[in-house]
Amino acid sequence: MRHIVCVVGARPNFMKMAPLLRALDAYPHLQATLVHTGQHYDANLSDVFFDELDMRKPDISLGVGSGKHGQQTARVLECFEEVLERGAEDGQSYERVVVVGDVNSTMAAALAAVKLGIPAAHVEAGLRSFDRTMPEEINRIVTDSISDVLLVSEPTGMENLRREGHAEDQLHLTGNVMIDTLRSLLPRARSLDTLGRYDLTPREYALVTLHRPANVDSPEVLGRLLDVLIEVSENLPVVFPVHPRTARRMQEFQLADRFQSTAGVIQLPPLGYLDFLALSSQAKVIVTDSGGLQEESTALGVPCLTMRANTERPVTVNQGTSTLIGNDAEKLRRHLREVLGGSYKPGQCPELWDGRAAERIARVIVESLDR
Ligand code: UD1
Repeated sequence: MRHIVCVVGARPNFMKMAPLLRALDAYPHLQATLVHTGQHYDANLSDVFFDELDMRKPDISLGVGSGKHGQQTARVLECFEEVLERGAEDGQSYERVVVVGDVNSTMAAALAAVKLGIPAAHVEAGLRSFDRTMPEEINRIVTDSISDVLLVSEPTGMENLRREGHAEDQLHLTGNVMIDTLRSLLPRARSLDTLGRYDLTPREYALVTLHRPANVDSPEVLGRLLDVLIEVSENLPVVFPVHPRTARRMQEFQLADRFQSTAGVIQLPPLGYLDFLALSSQAKVIVTDSGGLQEESTALGVPCLTMRANTERPVTVNQGTSTLIGNDAEKLRRHLREVLGGSYKPGQCPELWDGRAAERIARVIVESLDR
């Protein structure tokens, strides 16, 4: 038996790991231990995804919880190192650690592994926003620089990694594993009555998410963004499932009452995967600062106005349906007019976002064990 460890920590990790874990479990000689760091712990940011994505429960939960970057990273390092030192159940050591995405848990788990001499494989490697004020950019740079196997979702990722000096045999353009989950669950999501529950008509609402520190941690920036959304809601109902970080900031900055009492705004708690996919796949337009949603909207062919000045996923802009808006209200208005007037770019789905990425990634990881 060959033993590996797969690590998840926060919401965007689950939809990437679920299909990959199934593909790895299909190899009879491979035993994959699933570790959940507990970076996200609320039921609606974590448990609901295990049920809906049909992912087996974690074998080990570290319960690290929230905290400042240093604290959270340090807790994962300490707890995960212990897991690795204990080794697999039958006393054998782990041969590979598989991490996904760019959250603090991703970087910390990869670091703990390589320091113990266990090579790391990074899924969604090579993405770069070139904006080092984003915590995720630091996580991406560190994780890639210490990982042995780099599994890449879009061509710019390959270019970035080559420029950073990685050897060609470390790089694998395997496609977008999160889109595997989207393609397999889209029919189920569309069969739900999510829109009916909120009295929405297909293609007649905007779906909004905002949670990045750069957008929500300053009262001026968040206030300005909410003003723009209030304006949008005069023409198009705005559905906004609010991340806990954003909810806390809206209260703190006394922005919550005015926003919630706006007639066209439907504020919701964070949703599960299926309800959210039901909403995203039938929206007229998506307004977001999420990385994953930029990709999902491109795969779905839904216009995406991205409330960021840059993106680590340029294929969603160059080929897909996303446009970078920053926090420029006038630019948002202009592109909304295009969407509503039917002249917004149609976009196309990038290569290898075909629902088969997990198989390709699993094959690379399994083959890498014998190199
Ligand atoms: C994290 C990721 C981000 C990802 C996002 C998706 C990092 C650096 N950031 O950001 O890349 O896009 O997840 O959601 O890893 N909280 C809860 N319940 C939870 C978890 C968090 O209420 O289950 C609240 C806490 O107040 C916490 C805050 O959200 O302090 C932030 O959580 P944290 O995990 O630090 O980062 P996210 O903003 O969720």
